[in-house]
Amino acid sequence: MRKLLFLLPLSIFADGDFITDFEYGMMLYNNPRGISCAVCHGESAEGKKIVEYIDNNGKKVVINGVDIRQKTLLEISKTVARNHPIMPKYYLTEEEIKAIHYYIQRKNFPEKFLKMK
Ligand code: HEC
Repeated sequence: MRKLLFLLPLSIFADGDFITDFEYGMMLYNNPRGISCAVCHGESAEGKKIVEYIDNNGKKVVINGVDIRQKTLLEISKTVARNHPIMPKYYLTEEEIKAIHYYIQRKNFPEKFLKMK
């Protein structure tokens, strides 16, 4: 009986539907390695102003996290792994990047995922 109780939680986690792909992607988009994509690219990847300031010459500078809704899986893969002065470099697995891309697509273009009847 003791053994059985110990094994029980494992079988719950082994079920592939414990969280959906969408939820997994959402979790990653909002908190990959502690620095959320959403902070700079907006809740739905629609883009967002990160900061606005006046430089030493009195010129207004605006830094935007660009709209990434239309970015392909390949573009996202390349971008997250590069060195960039503003955007952090992420060490994400292929699965994680796929999940983030899926989340962005599914959230913004749900019609693409409608099943044919
Ligand atoms: C600290 C802010 C910040 C965070 C966090 C951030 N980004 Fe970015 N990202 C930027 C900025 C700024 C740009 C625009 C860079 C440029 O034009 O050179 C950018 C550009 C991009 C681009 C477009 C690149 C292109 O060539 O058009 C993609 C795709 C992208 N980010 C994906 C992500 C994903 C996915 C995450 C989370 C894993 C993320 N970013 C987290 C700031 C951020």
